Amino acid sequence: MNQSHKIALVTGAARGIGLAIANALLRDGHDVIGVDIDAKGIVNTARRVNANQAPHLPQFVPMVADIAEAAAVTQLFAAVAAQFGGLDVLVNNAGTCFMNDFVDISPDEFHKQMAINFDSAFYCCQQAIPLLLKRQTSAPGIKKIINISSNGAYNFEVFDPAHYRASKAALDTLTKHLARRYAREGIAINSIAPAMTRTDLFDVVPPDVLERALSAMPRGKPIEPAEIANWVAFLASPVGDCSSGNVIILNQGRDVR
Ligand SMILES: NC(=O)c1ccc[n+]([C@@H]2O[C@H](COP(=O)([O-])OP(=O)(O)OC[C@H]3O[C@@H](n4cnc5c(N)ncnc54)[C@H](O)[C@@H]3O)[C@@H](O)[C@H]2O)c1
Repeated sequence: MNQSHKIALVTGAARGIGLAIANALLRDGHDVIGVDIDAKGIVNTARRVNANQAPHLPQFVPMVADIAEAAAVTQLFAAVAAQFGGLDVLVNNAGTCFMNDFVDISPDEFHKQMAINFDSAFYCCQQAIPLLLKRQTSAPGIKKIINISSNGAYNFEVFDPAHYRASKAALDTLTKHLARRYAREGIAINSIAPAMTRTDLFDVVPPDVLERALSAMPRGKPIEPAEIANWVAFLASPVGDCSSGNVIILNQGRDVR
């Protein structure tokens, strides 16, 4: 580990928005701990990413965990503490979307949706905050938590399932709670809530619903993962120090009335 690098942990970093965030943070001088439930995916991603990084440049360090499970998150952060000692940035990005209509959502699916999208971020924040605070001694400055929410919590014209919306609304309330709680201890916490962003998650959406959602985008095309990632990198950088407790909606202006 190079002492001059910042240390970021990104969940769901094997692909999609998480991978784009990892790349943006590497570019900006962070060693990135990329966490995913997909063991093969995260190891292959790390291999590909590090192939383009000279040894003195920040590295992508893969770690495998099902972060919907509290015990797995505890174990994950114990490994992070042992290897890195502290953290500068946590990005809670891992998530998914189960597409059932309200009356068809089983209790099991409901709990799974909340666990993957919300409980995981709750547990990661609980484990990360002591490491963010500890890092202030060796690397003073504002530490960051960035939660990847969704426009689905705010836009009710485009279809999104009830449990998905609720998981993201809960996440944004956690953002505000933690922003208030840790403002004076030097941790800034914000949410980024993207609309349609081109990733594998599009595959879970039925074709007619996807077409309607895409045609509602004002630029006639989805957002690219790198566009979201640059906003995360902006918040992670010192320019982001003065923002905390905000939900930043990225949707090409779709919902302005
Ligand atoms: N793509 C969009 O249009 C869009 C829009 C709004 C919000 N988002 C949010 O962005 C985030 C990333 O979505 P994406 O589109 O890149 O999805 P994606 O499916 O391409 O990637 C999600 C990643 O999270 C990982 N993951 C899932 N469950 C996990 C678990 N329990 N533990 C560890 N890792 C886990 C997956 O293996 C995968 O690598 C999600 O929170 C999603 O809700 C996406």
